[in-house]
Amino acid sequence: MDDNAAALLVTDLRKTYGGRTVVDGLSLRVARGTCVGLLGPNGAGKTTTLRLLLGHTRPDAGRIEVLGFSVPEAASQARARLGVVGQSDNLDPDFNVEENLYHYARYYGLDPRALRERFTDLLTFAGLEDRRDAPLRELSGGMRRRLALIRALVHDPVMLFLDEPTTGLDPQARFHLWQRFRQLRREGRTLLLTTHYMEEAERLCDRLVVLDHGRVVAEGSPQELVRRHVEPFVLELPAEAGRDLGLGEERHELRTLHLEETVFVYARARENLESLLSRCPETPARLRPSNLEDVFFALTGHALRD
Ligand SMILES: Nc1ncnc2c1ncn2[C@@H]1O[C@H](COP(=O)(O)OP(=O)(O)O)[C@@H](O)[C@H]1O
Ligand SMILES: [Mg+2]
Repeated sequence: MDDNAAALLVTDLRKTYGGRTVVDGLSLRVARGTCVGLLGPNGAGKTTTLRLLLGHTRPDAGRIEVLGFSVPEAASQARARLGVVGQSDNLDPDFNVEENLYHYARYYGLDPRALRERFTDLLTFAGLEDRRDAPLRELSGGMRRRLALIRALVHDPVMLFLDEPTTGLDPQARFHLWQRFRQLRREGRTLLLTTHYMEEAERLCDRLVVLDHGRVVAEGSPQELVRRHVEPFVLELPAEAGRDLGLGEERHELRTLHLEETVFVYARARENLESLLSRCPETPARLRPSNLEDVFFALTGHALRD
């Protein structure tokens, strides 16, 4: 391996389906022990990227090295050291909680006699220690996701691929999972996750690669991205109120963007937005610090969740 500190090295990866470019020149480096996020809307190419990294799909061009193994050539060696939580959990509804772990462990050729203790540790980690014999239909969405996570940990992988790990969960279930991801990172594991939730990306990831239409549109820590690409403050107003305030006109201290029925007004100084706000006291408006959603919007002209 030419870069020992990297768990993952990708250079100029390309994938086309039926003439449509789905991954368009993606380069990526994930340092060991870090959490890196692929942030992008539906259809951005996140799952396809993970499939390429796992060797499930062959790239049209580009180089992939996962944990020192070339993919797809040595994908099975890489996969033996990786844990994967897919976008749909693929748990087996005919088995109970422990049986789901057991069948997965057998797939990795682990000694069944050594597993009971390991399962106890994993179930405790997931807060499922009381559900060992529960049928899957009795689990909540959050519990299923936590089971899918520990199933991906049975062979003690050094790196995890998590594809939209909290999509569709309520905020509390999402928060529980975030705590687990943080713990796995503290244990020194490397995490690559995909998400279209900017809050998830902001809270969990050391670095982000922002994707749109299979292309990297920006890259850096969440704070760096916000600093580099947008003004620090934004005022959200109904489009109509924006028109009344004459926001369509040139005002160099403000930058405005329209998205459907909302106008976003960006400024370097909070005071500029406060004075604007004071001119329309009756208007439902929101003055807040800029975030990754604003970065995405500034770079692509559309929202992360469309
Ligand atoms: N096997 C496939 N055949 C044809 N098109 C595909 C296939 N897999 C994905 N795509 C297309 O590639 C694009 C990116 O998909 P995907 O990687 O699943 O995006 P994301 O995970 O970011 O939502 C989508 O437009 C999708 O329809
Ligand atoms: Mg996907």
